[in-house]
Amino acid sequence: MDLYEYQARDTFEKYGVPVLKGITATTPDEAKAAAAELGSSVVVVKAQVKTGGRGKAGGVKIARSPEEAAQRAEEILGLDIKGHVVKTVMVTEGADIAEEYYFSLLLDRANRTYLAMCSKEGGMDIEQLAVERPEALARIPVDPLVGIDQAKADEIVAAAGFDEADRPEIARVLQLLGKLYQAEDATLVEVNPLVKTRDGSILALDGKVSLDENADFRHPEHEALVDNSATDPLENAAKEKGLNYVKLDGSVGIIGNGAGLVMSTLDVVAYAGEQFPGQPRPANFLDIGGGASAEVMANGLEIILSDAQVKSVFVNVFGGITACDEVANGIVQAFELLASRDEHVDRPLVVRLDGNNAEEGRAILTDANLAGLEQVDTMDGAAQRAAELAQDAAAGSARGN
Ligand SMILES: Nc1ncnc2c1ncn2[C@@H]1O[C@H](COP(=O)(O)OP(=O)(O)O)[C@@H](O)[C@H]1O
Ligand SMILES: [Mg+2]
Repeated sequence: MDLYEYQARDTFEKYGVPVLKGITATTPDEAKAAAAELGSSVVVVKAQVKTGGRGKAGGVKIARSPEEAAQRAEEILGLDIKGHVVKTVMVTEGADIAEEYYFSLLLDRANRTYLAMCSKEGGMDIEQLAVERPEALARIPVDPLVGIDQAKADEIVAAAGFDEADRPEIARVLQLLGKLYQAEDATLVEVNPLVKTRDGSILALDGKVSLDENADFRHPEHEALVDNSATDPLENAAKEKGLNYVKLDGSVGIIGNGAGLVMSTLDVVAYAGEQFPGQPRPANFLDIGGGASAEVMANGLEIILSDAQVKSVFVNVFGGITACDEVANGIVQAFELLASRDEHVDRPLVVRLDGNNAEEGRAILTDANLAGLEQVDTMDGAAQRAAELAQDAAAGSARGN
């Protein structure tokens, strides 16, 4: 999970990393009040979106009075920055910057270690610097069992070439960031820019923190950092049920067992849909996993059917460890379960069973004679049929029936 800058700022503060005061606002009036509360002669109004390059996109602006902060907020709120619409700004104190540096600590998966990157030349164009003058970006491996201790911090600031006089304070801040990284189970902590002000203090002016969701069980407090407003409500409902679901824009609901199979199902459905005038496309990604129970199948169907855009559903199962007869029983029970919840499968379902015990599974579904369910033996054929049903339903509703 990526944090917003204001959340990263709060986390920095918690670990003693020097930051400036910041107050979030969702309206120009709130921004004005925030600037007044900060009381500094210069404030900066910053778009809170989970993407970089806000400065260049016009999402970071200086204001010299509360009134001006309101105006800047007015300009920034609603701005689209790389597909992220700004709903919140942070009003923060203005720093009197002398120099901008770069620091990040991240997971180096390939080398099974952490990697610290640090440069005297931070600011807005670190990616460009990394490509054009890689020697200006120090890269220092950090032992995950040790983290950034004094010796490692000293090594990093020396490699980055900071002036002797600045090294102790920067090294101190890097240790705090390292501590945060480990204690919060982060996979990335980036500060760009880390600045030296004209009076010589070191400050984290921007922050990017990604937390490892696999460690959520150790951090119940991270739940509060989740921003559900940015997530689709169906995705939230699916997450609550423990389903691996991603909402897409099309009309063909998709359920499969195994992420790889579901990915290729999306492709096959998109391809099949191209032949139809309405070009039906996949409505979602949903992987119910290898050992899917009837309950998981029922939950999956329930989520997919609560998407009004869905006109047909394609259940694509390749029997492996869980054989097709078990999956078929799961589908039958899922229909019963949904009926007991007063939810009915009211859109056509195309099922393709293949692999282990496919014959047995198909026989079970044939015998159950479930309303609206048809079987097609091949993946391509089933994708074709599901797309066709979605097309027919869309054409039908366009005609008003
Ligand atoms: N509080 C601040 N005071 C003064 N300048 C700032 C402040 N925050 C950001 N800046 C300037 O704006 C630039 C871009 O801001 P930053 O927060 O890094 O956003 P982004 O990386 O998304 O462009 C910084 O490199 C810095 O020069
Ligand atoms: Mg930045």
